[in-house]
Amino acid sequence: MDASTQPAEWLLRPALPSDLETLVELRATVMREDLERLGRFDEHRVRQRMRDSFSPENSWVVEADGVFAGCVSLRPDADATWLEHFYLAPQVQNRGLGSAVLASLLQRTDADGVRVRVNVLQGSAARRLYERHGFAPDRQDEVDVWMVRLPGRGAAVADLVARLRAAGCVYAEEEAAILLEAGEAGSAGDLESLVARRVAGEPLEYVVGWAEFFGLRIAVSPGVFVPRRRTEFLVERAVALAPGAGLVVDLCCGSGALGIAFVDRVPGAELHAADSEDAAVACAQRNGIARVHRGDLFDALPTSLRGRVDVLLANTPYVPTDGIAFLPPEARDHEPAVTLDGGHDGLTVARRVAASATEWLAPDGIVLIETSRAQAPVLTRVFADHGLVATVAHDDELGATVVIGRSGADSPL
Ligand SMILES: C[S@@+](CC[C@H](N)C(=O)[O-])C[C@H]1O[C@@H](n2cnc3c(N)ncnc32)[C@H](O)[C@@H]1O
Repeated sequence: MDASTQPAEWLLRPALPSDLETLVELRATVMREDLERLGRFDEHRVRQRMRDSFSPENSWVVEADGVFAGCVSLRPDADATWLEHFYLAPQVQNRGLGSAVLASLLQRTDADGVRVRVNVLQGSAARRLYERHGFAPDRQDEVDVWMVRLPGRGAAVADLVARLRAAGCVYAEEEAAILLEAGEAGSAGDLESLVARRVAGEPLEYVVGWAEFFGLRIAVSPGVFVPRRRTEFLVERAVALAPGAGLVVDLCCGSGALGIAFVDRVPGAELHAADSEDAAVACAQRNGIARVHRGDLFDALPTSLRGRVDVLLANTPYVPTDGIAFLPPEARDHEPAVTLDGGHDGLTVARRVAASATEWLAPDGIVLIETSRAQAPVLTRVFADHGLVATVAHDDELGATVVIGRSGADSPL
């Protein structure tokens, strides 16, 4: 079977009692990574749970191009049907087969007018698949997310995806799932008004009131910079270089996403955040940061922090003034210039941060500033001019570049 394309043919055949041990092994293989990540993998339990709950009469074996490819069950319960034991063999994953099987099962449940429930592990990639097919989270705990899908929901999702796609949303399926969830929660407004705002070009994060960053939901509101996924790289580097940091400052904090993500990974650290804008300060406070200061760069900080900062995180505005016109409309038309405009070469604010960093850093403290790849050599020289031992880190996948400086010339990074 070609590993890159969707199987040409697939079918569901009724499961037999004799299939059980093959399916038990498949479950152990497929669930291993997620269970290990959650610290819950147990060689015996992962198999026994399937032996205890599997009923062939509610189950099918998936065959693709004539070969065993997986299994799935639909178990009727009091108020819903449970979708269970949906496992695909690794060689057929990520090829559209899961989506095709799910769609065909949901056609059946829609025809019967029944709601469908499913349980996924926290952080599992399967959650997105279910969201794309109209499931919404119902409740969750640290390990599991329980999702539910009302009958006919597929049509509502398909309609929403089509509207978003027509409006130019590239990730229409993911956005549809997020908008449906927000519409159902009701806290940001009814679904129709949310969709109207998104279709008119407002950033999704402003519409629903949050952005995902480092696996966390960060509150954002109009007037505040939307944290970008690429900036996760800066936080990742900071955590790797200073896992024992005692004092961290998120300068130019916006929503406070960087600081919040850092202390999520380094829980003992004391976090201070600062921004020049009222909207950002209010947002960072709303995100639970206790010490948020307002003012121009370091002027905002209590002087008691001088010489004590272990980690200085700074995603300063770095778009050159002439480049603002070429940003995507979502940023250009909706995010305030003060959050984007980094002056003639994009480094005006970053230079000012570098110039004062050594005054505020503890001996061996580090400062990390995100830049573009082209700007990095210039900022590296600026760091060196101000007594920082500098290095550049880059992540191709995220398209992220960070200039990192350490105070104390004897301690290479
Ligand atoms: C690119 S945004 C980054 C926000 C946040 N750190 C993030 O990554 O989501 C830059 C932030 O710097 C703030 N800012 C711009 N100039 C500033 C200054 N002189 N002093 C303090 N904050 C400033 C803006 O208000 C904005 O929130």
